[in-house]
Amino acid sequence: MAIEIVPLTERDIPGTVECIQQAFAEDPYFLWVFDPSKFNKQRNSDSLTARCLWGINNALFYVAKETSSDTTATTEGEGSSNPASSSSSSSAAQQQVLGVSCWLPPHPASVPETWYSWFQSWLLSFRQLLTNIRYLGHGGLNTRRYWIWKYRQQEAQEAIWNDPRGYYFCNIVAVRPDAQGKGIGRKLFEVVTDQADKEGVKCYLESSKMVPNVEIYRKMGFEVMRAMDCVDGEDSCKLFCMIRDPKQKL
Ligand SMILES: CC(C)(COP(=O)(O)OP(=O)(O)OC[C@H]1O[C@@H](n2cnc3c(N)ncnc32)[C@H](O)[C@@H]1OP(=O)(O)O)[C@@H](O)C(=O)NCCC(=O)NCCS
Repeated sequence: MAIEIVPLTERDIPGTVECIQQAFAEDPYFLWVFDPSKFNKQRNSDSLTARCLWGINNALFYVAKETSSDTTATTEGEGSSNPASSSSSSSAAQQQVLGVSCWLPPHPASVPETWYSWFQSWLLSFRQLLTNIRYLGHGGLNTRRYWIWKYRQQEAQEAIWNDPRGYYFCNIVAVRPDAQGKGIGRKLFEVVTDQADKEGVKCYLESSKMVPNVEIYRKMGFEVMRAMDCVDGEDSCKLFCMIRDPKQKL
């Protein structure tokens, strides 16, 4: 199976959302932060779609697709202004997305946020607000737990982020369950870690799955720097903060 890693386009958003939802269905952090009895999959799709639209312009957002004449022939839906459209061409594009990665570029601590970046974040928040209004709530997201995690994340980054150039931040990496273990995750990582190596910049990620993810990420050059305990009453979720130092290519 030949795989290509390409930047996310609007046409691939439905397949990207489906891939993320499938890959994270059993994720410990996902199960902790969402109440499964109230989880609204359609609302979650709309929220992820807003995140993807933001990511096209503001993140390093890649999809892994199988390279084949069958899939490349399906380009009718290209340029469609409605990424959530359920046309036949768009559902064919959905099937092609086998994996996804979203990275935030490094942001040096000394550089203030640009107006463009501020406006884009505002636009994302506005879209998320509209989603909350349309669905009358957060669709099962436990916002208290979300903020516990954000607080712990800030604490962890203040403790272990010591490089003034900033870090490539792996926000999402997901491979469809039926495509895992075939080298797609590595390809999704390498498109960014190769760039980080050329620039001499560190990478950062968080994983709530000790087994097997921590071992998988070690193979990509990451090391556990800190464990984050997100505690809400009797329920807690542990996340592992991992950092990768740039490698010099021989
Ligand atoms: C974690 C994930 C992105 C990895 O992607 P993948 O395509 O399955 O991984 P790959 O096949 O590219 O394997 C990468 C490396 O890990 C190794 N590996 C894969 N599965 C492994 C396992 N279960 N145990 C140990 N090592 C494993 C591979 O051998 C490979 O090493 P190598 O290239 O040195 O031989 C993917 O499994 C996934 O989406 N999981 C569910 C969602 C998730 O947990 N996302 C991450 C949240 S932080």
